[in-house]
Amino acid sequence: MSRKILVCVAWPYCNGDMHIGHCAGAYLPADIFARYQRMQGNDVLMVSGSDTHGTPITVTAEDEGITPRAVVDRYHPRNTETLRRLGISFDLFTETDTENHWAVTQDFFKTHLANGYLYRDRTAQLYCTDSNKWLADRFVEGVCPFCGYDGARGDQCDNCGRTYEATALLKPRCKYCGGSNIEIRETEHFFLDLGKLNDPLLAWLDDGRKTHWRSNVMNATRARLESRELRGRPITRDIAWGITIPVPGYEDKRIYVWYDAVIGYFAASKEWAQVVGRPDAWQAWWHGADTPSYYFIGKDNIEFHSVIWPAMLIAYDRDLNLPYDVPANEYLNVEGRKLSKSRRWSIGMGDALDRYDPDPWRYALAASFPEAQDVNFTWDEFVRRNNEELVATWGNLANRVLGFAYKRFDGRVPQPGAFDAADQALLDRIEPTFNQVTALLDAVKLKPALTETMSLAHEANRYLNLKEPWQQIKTDPAGAATSIYVALRVIDTLKTLFAPFLPFTCQQLHAYLGYEGDLFGQLYTTEVAESQRSHLVLRYDGATATGRWAPSALPAGQALRQPAALFLKLEPSVSELEIERMTGNS
Ligand code: MF3
Ligand code: ZN
Repeated sequence: MSRKILVCVAWPYCNGDMHIGHCAGAYLPADIFARYQRMQGNDVLMVSGSDTHGTPITVTAEDEGITPRAVVDRYHPRNTETLRRLGISFDLFTETDTENHWAVTQDFFKTHLANGYLYRDRTAQLYCTDSNKWLADRFVEGVCPFCGYDGARGDQCDNCGRTYEATALLKPRCKYCGGSNIEIRETEHFFLDLGKLNDPLLAWLDDGRKTHWRSNVMNATRARLESRELRGRPITRDIAWGITIPVPGYEDKRIYVWYDAVIGYFAASKEWAQVVGRPDAWQAWWHGADTPSYYFIGKDNIEFHSVIWPAMLIAYDRDLNLPYDVPANEYLNVEGRKLSKSRRWSIGMGDALDRYDPDPWRYALAASFPEAQDVNFTWDEFVRRNNEELVATWGNLANRVLGFAYKRFDGRVPQPGAFDAADQALLDRIEPTFNQVTALLDAVKLKPALTETMSLAHEANRYLNLKEPWQQIKTDPAGAATSIYVALRVIDTLKTLFAPFLPFTCQQLHAYLGYEGDLFGQLYTTEVAESQRSHLVLRYDGATATGRWAPSALPAGQALRQPAALFLKLEPSVSELEIERMTGNS
């Protein structure tokens, strides 16, 4: 039975080019999971978009002397294109400055207000008396009240991940003028009454359906909810960029970026339904007991997805599904240092794809997914993985067997004879590996699934080293035919297991093996028109996808196509050159 599966992915701030850390932390894991589920025959809806609001965008606009909208107009198309090139198969990747998103957000706001989950209060906020400006969120920096990190932002500490009110910051500095003539002043705002939602949230956390949650996510969420310290949180700000407040008298304030960003999952589902011409189609992914939702995010976003967003959903409409899983990742560091745009230590994903193919990137990043702890990416390791694992182990396995079959067996899958013990032993590995990888992918343990898949490729190489069909054919052509047949069956199975990770090269391999059609559907960018403006979106259309999640049933006699190498070897000097390039930037 086909299930509806909602795959939600963190909305990247649209104030810069996305880097490999974003891709390893959220986009790529989500895509691998979505592609796997689609091959299983499930009906996936994967959504996200550019997060266009909040002070991250206005700080950049301020620095460059341009409008926030101009910042979005520069980076949204670039990031959308990068996601397409990396093959991140969003059913819809949109942005938050759209009429649809504004309308859905304002509807949440009005509904929360009507349902008694919003209240107004006066609150203390930082105000710079030199700049004459309110210092919301990232317009102020200081020392973290929890861990003492100097450089903590007004809303969140990058070091320990905690969130707090800007007034709790120690030694605050204004980002407009750099000064510290900062006062605490009163201002009126709307608050989301999280206190009322503490009990419903605890009941949800303890519903017995959270045993699969990662311990980092469960521990943070449990600690937060069991402390029973949820209090009202201000969801409006004294800024000029953002969604307007649908209540008279608040014209000079805006909705806080985090309130609208998480609503994006819901709004984008609705936009997708509009785009495909079935405006109610989103419903099937937001209701129903067997309709799980997965939220792929980085560790700094856990609380927003495991506490605040579920709270907002409960307060909006009790019939909507709450997150089924929040597979949050830790961080990917590079050459031992934290990725940071401001400290100019980064590998832009678009840049990275200009120089190396998408599948080697997908492989290197997946093999380094920070699923359980921070992981250090190094260029040496990138080159080593490409050359030893992709080229020598997997690519070479596929190429030498396919090339040999193509040349020596008339371009067809040979007819096997009786299997000997070695043949049978390798064939017997297929099913357990398949089941093991399936279980790991179902549990969103993607890196272990990749390791398990690679170990079958190693096994197949050992088998070929033992059999040496290229020698065998001289004395025992029937035996060579059997060996090649067995190897092709394993390679065809590996093609399926690798496909969610390496969709581009697995498609090539699929064709070399003689199959027709595409494993996956089409991924393209297009414009969506609204009444005022149109915006660029990324779309995945699975109508023509034929990939099925099953071990190989490759028939003897199937005509092969002439194979070519799947991966290119990299020069060892690549590592040095790339590190030089990064150091030159920093
Ligand atoms: N823009 C935020 C960030 O980059 C993430 C938003 S995730 C969302 O940290 F769910 F709120 F959209
Ligand atoms: Zn801290």
